[in-house]
Amino acid sequence: MEMTSIIAARDLVKRFGSFQAVKGISFEVEQGHCIGLLGPNGAGKTTTMRMIMGLSTVSGGTLEVFDIPVGAMTRGIKSKIGLVPQESNLDSDITVSENLKVYGRYFGLAANVIGERVPRLLEFMQLHERAESRVTQLSGGMKRRLIIARALISDPELIILDEPTKGLDPQARVLIWNQLLELKRRGKTLLLTTHNMDEAQRLCDRIIIVDHGEILDEGSPRDLIDRHVLGHVFEVGKPLPAALNGKHWEHEDIGDAVLFYVRSSDDFVAGLPDSADFIQRPANLEDVFLRLTGRKLREN
Ligand SMILES: Nc1ncnc2c1ncn2[C@@H]1O[C@H](COP(=O)(O)OP(=O)(O)OP(=O)(O)O)[C@@H](O)[C@H]1O
Ligand SMILES: [Mg+2]
Repeated sequence: MEMTSIIAARDLVKRFGSFQAVKGISFEVEQGHCIGLLGPNGAGKTTTMRMIMGLSTVSGGTLEVFDIPVGAMTRGIKSKIGLVPQESNLDSDITVSENLKVYGRYFGLAANVIGERVPRLLEFMQLHERAESRVTQLSGGMKRRLIIARALISDPELIILDEPTKGLDPQARVLIWNQLLELKRRGKTLLLTTHNMDEAQRLCDRIIIVDHGEILDEGSPRDLIDRHVLGHVFEVGKPLPAALNGKHWEHEDIGDAVLFYVRSSDDFVAGLPDSADFIQRPANLEDVFLRLTGRKLREN
């Protein structure tokens, strides 16, 4: 099937002075997919999203959204993109529903369209009982939901979500996941960042792992797990049983234990003495992330 690219980046660069925050990355986002942009703090995710929105200039390479270079996007094109920014930028002096209306007017929507969409979006994000509350009266989770509702006011085809569930409790996260999956079912295209690997694994068709402004790998969650951490993880306590010495399992030393990445758990267990102290679990995206980007804290 022919895929339509909604976003196409070629050798995309972003410089801040002499510092390169994005170092020539190329990727595509296909229509109707949910793509996850994952990477440690400072990797360049927000910078990339801001360029896609036309909020930050491109320093090098090309970046097209809906086949239009981002520098040439009109307000009409921008209304086809909904943004959930990393930091809250709601207007706290006005009510919840006014926040949505202001955005609707900015995009030139007719009053009756706005009047019809606002209650539907508040319902969609379960904020209808707070329609007349001031933003200052909302909890952090309600504000996050309001920002998502606001991003949908122009009924955008592409939705860019920079850490949409940051700081939310598990219930609020599940609500947002369900609503994002619903948007995908309606054919919307989603580009998402998150530090929650479980979220990425649930929502994303494909994941792009970035670090220091470069793409380390990309693929479906399954492919990435298969390629980098093989399928099963054994966390074996130290000192390691002698039977593991000299065997060439993929592994990583994490201090008080060693993680072994194995394809066949039976083969691995067969080589362990009965007394071995280990935990076995399926490999997940977090294992991939830590393997590719390392375990050291980022202090930039
Ligand atoms: N306006 C700016 N001026 C100078 N440097 C900037 C600017 N904006 C971002 N940077 C730098 O660019 C790099 C990438 O930042 P960015 O915000 O894109 O990271 P991120 O991947 O979104 O990280 P996080 O997960 O912490 O949100 C960082 O080193 C950051 O300090
Ligand atoms: Mg960011």
